[in-house]
Amino acid sequence: MKFSRLFKLLHFFLMAAFVLALFTQCSNQSIGNNPGFIVTDTSCWVGPGVYQIPENKTGDTIRYGRALISQTAYYLGAKGTVSQTTNGMNCQNCHLDAGTKPWGNNFGRVSSNYPLYRARSGTMETIRKRISDCFERSLNGIPPDSGSYEMEAIVAYIRWVGQDVAKNTTPRGTGIQELPYMNRAADPVKGEWVYTSFCANCHGKNGEGAPDKDRIGYQYPPLWGKHSYNVSAGLYRLSRFAGFVKCNMPNTVNYHNPVITNEQAWDVAAFVNSRERPNKKWSTDWPDIRKKPVDHPFGPYADTLSEKQHKYGPWK
Ligand code: HEC
Ligand code: HEC
Repeated sequence: MKFSRLFKLLHFFLMAAFVLALFTQCSNQSIGNNPGFIVTDTSCWVGPGVYQIPENKTGDTIRYGRALISQTAYYLGAKGTVSQTTNGMNCQNCHLDAGTKPWGNNFGRVSSNYPLYRARSGTMETIRKRISDCFERSLNGIPPDSGSYEMEAIVAYIRWVGQDVAKNTTPRGTGIQELPYMNRAADPVKGEWVYTSFCANCHGKNGEGAPDKDRIGYQYPPLWGKHSYNVSAGLYRLSRFAGFVKCNMPNTVNYHNPVITNEQAWDVAAFVNSRERPNKKWSTDWPDIRKKPVDHPFGPYADTLSEKQHKYGPWK
C-alpha cells in the first residue's frame, strides 16, 4: 500500500519534470513564423512572426510598421493611401517574410548594431537614416518625414524584430549571405541564359515583373527598368544581388535547398545589373574612397582597376 503511494508520487514528479522540460524547450525554440512549430535547425537566426506582436498600443505601432514593410505599395506606392512617393515595390520584396527569413536580407542585426558608422555616408547612422536610404535607392523614392508615424512604426517594427539579439552581435543568417568570389569576371552573357531558364517566367522577359491583381503593387517585382531600384541601391552591387538570389530565388527556395549554383548567381547578377535602371547618384557617397567595397561600380577608386573590373570582377 505504502509502496504504491510512493510509486504514484514518483510517477507524478517524473511526469511533471518531463512536461516542464518539454515546455521550456518549446519556449526556447518555437520562434519564427510558425508559433508552436518547433524549429529544429537553430544554426541560423529566424525572426519572430506576426502572431508574436503584443496586443497593446506599442504592438499596434509595430503591426503598422510590419504592414508598411510588407505592403509598402498599398500605403506609399503610385496609388498609396498615405502618400505616393515610391516606385511601387514593397520593402518585403527584398527583405523577405517582412525581414525575418534566414539569409533573406532580414533585419536581425539592425537593432543590435545601430547607431552604426557606415563608410557609404562616412557618418554614424541611425536606423531612420538607414531606412531612408532604402526609400531613396531601392524604392527610388522619397522617405517619410523622420517625425512621421510611418517612420516611427517602421523603426519600432525593425527594433522589435531584432530585440532578442545581443548588443553589437550579428547572428549567423542575418543579412545577405557572402558567396565566395569567382576566379573570373561575372558574365552577363552566361547570366542571360540563367535569367531565361530560372527567372523570366515570373519576372518577365524584359525584367518588368507583373502587377498584382488589384494593380496596386506587384505579384512579381521588376528587376530592371524605370520601376526598379536605382544604381545607388545595395542590389546594384553584384555581391549583394548574387548572395540574395542564391539563397532565395526562384522564390520557393531557402538556404537549405538552393536551385542555382554560386556561378549562376554571379552571372545572373551581372546580366540583371547590366540592364537599364534609374540612374540616381549621390555625390556625397563614400567620402573616403579607400573604404569603397570592391564591387562598387563607380569610381574614383584608391586602386588602378577599371570601373568595369570593379563592377564584374575578378576581384581576387
Ligand atoms: C530592391 C531591394 C530592396 C528594397 C525594396 C528594400 N531594401 Fe532595404 N536593403 C536592401 C539591400 C541590398 C540592403 C543591404 C544589405 C547588405 O548590405 O547586406 C538593405 C539594407 C537595409 C537595412 C539595413 C540592414 C542591415 O542588416 O544592416 C534596412 C534597415 C533596410 N534595408 C530597410 C528597408 C526598408 C524599410 C525598406 C522599404 C522602405 C527597404 N529596406 C527596401 C535591399 C532593399
Ligand atoms: C516563381 C516566381 C519567381 C521566380 C522563378 C524568380 N523570382 Fe525573384 N521574386 C519573386 C517574388 C514573388 C519576389 C518578391 C518576394 C516577396 O515579396 O516576398 C521576388 C523578388 C526578387 C528580387 C528582389 C526584388 C526585386 O524585384 O528587385 C530579386 C533581385 C529577384 N527576385 C531575382 C530573381 C532572379 C535573379 C531569379 C532567377 C534566378 C528569380 N528572381 C526567380 C518570384 C520569382
